Amino acid sequence: MSVLKINIVLFGKGNVGKEFLNQVIENQKTFLEKRNIDIQFPIIANSRLAYFEKEGVDKFWESNFALAAIPYKLEDILDYVKIHNLENLVAIDLTDSEELVKNYIPLIQNGFNIVAANKNANTSSIEFYKEVRRNLDRHGKTFLYETNVGSGFPVVQTLRDLYSSGEQITKIRGVFSDSFGNVFKRFSTEESLFLSVLSEAGITGSKKSDSIENLYKNDVAKKTLILAREIGANLEFSDVNILPLFSSELKEFNPKQEYEFDKKMLESYGISKIADEDNHILRYVGEFSVLENKLEVQLVSELQSFPIARLDGSEKNFEIYTKSYGKIPIVIQGSGSGKEVLARGVLTDVFKVAEKLRIREKVLV
Ligand SMILES: NC(=O)c1ccc[n+]([C@@H]2O[C@H](COP(=O)([O-])OP(=O)(O)OC[C@H]3O[C@@H](n4cnc5c(N)ncnc54)[C@H](OP(=O)(O)O)[C@@H]3O)[C@@H](O)[C@H]2O)c1
Repeated sequence: MSVLKINIVLFGKGNVGKEFLNQVIENQKTFLEKRNIDIQFPIIANSRLAYFEKEGVDKFWESNFALAAIPYKLEDILDYVKIHNLENLVAIDLTDSEELVKNYIPLIQNGFNIVAANKNANTSSIEFYKEVRRNLDRHGKTFLYETNVGSGFPVVQTLRDLYSSGEQITKIRGVFSDSFGNVFKRFSTEESLFLSVLSEAGITGSKKSDSIENLYKNDVAKKTLILAREIGANLEFSDVNILPLFSSELKEFNPKQEYEFDKKMLESYGISKIADEDNHILRYVGEFSVLENKLEVQLVSELQSFPIARLDGSEKNFEIYTKSYGKIPIVIQGSGSGKEVLARGVLTDVFKVAEKLRIREKVLV
């Protein structure tokens, strides 16, 4: 088998970007020997600067970036890959930029496949979402984003396989955010107060309700929308019915009165905290009901015998209900988040792109 050289243009060298680069550079030799895949990074960019090295950066990339990175525009990147005849191009988006996703279409039109942890391309307008896919089809390119939802475990792929095989999916439901999973697990099962649990989870502070709202809006709701769109839903982010954790009354609440805060929050949901007597547990859940075409994110009180209720604090879960599988959902569940897991997930997507490129190469020979 001949060596397949993959040229990655990496956008974003923050927590995940750094981890990803270092993971790949450490294992470059192994990938070459065991998989005949030579992964190189001829360009690394942040929001303002790009470092160009046509042979691919090495383990000193960080200091070289500091010394030699220059201001850039998208056209500079497109020109560079053309001038240097770089093939098998993959643009990797490890940013959370709304601006960068606007470059996806020109990138695809200029020969790039795309792998993204950034959720913004899949959660902006449905028109843009479709236009990206039209361009992928037209130019024979691939866009993978498994890390948009499950930090790398195969949720999008499973949904895509079920959907394309004609399986009738009726509902997708789950605890899509492990940060929230942990908070509600502790809140439900311990005598702790909600604000203290939030604080210990590091998602609180002076901007309590702000950061919480950010999490559920930008994380759980976006993931719910991405999953729904994967199975054909023509819905917008504004269609996600997000039942707020905090009523406006609670947002103004004096955090020192924690007992009152808990009572009011739970009353507003009509649920009790630790429901030992009726075996329920609180969960922060995203749900897409296919039959009703309804997207919802909310706090629910769940029977302890259900898979969602049995999750460990650090676990996420995705339940897929289908016609053939009946009442028992397909459950994809796993713990693990953070930059290491995410970087592995991105790498898995890169290998999938490589497989497709290899197949295309064989067809063309
Ligand atoms: N960190 C985690 O554990 C984790 C977990 C789950 C999901 N994620 C997702 O992974 C992605 C990256 O997260 P992160 O924690 O690595 O973020 P981060 O540390 O804030 O790094 C973001 C990087 O993106 C760059 N960037 C921003 N706008 C850009 C643009 N228009 N063009 C090129 N580069 C741009 C930033 O450059 P500047 O420094 O110039 O701004 C920075 O290098 C996000 O989508 C995040 O939601 C992360």
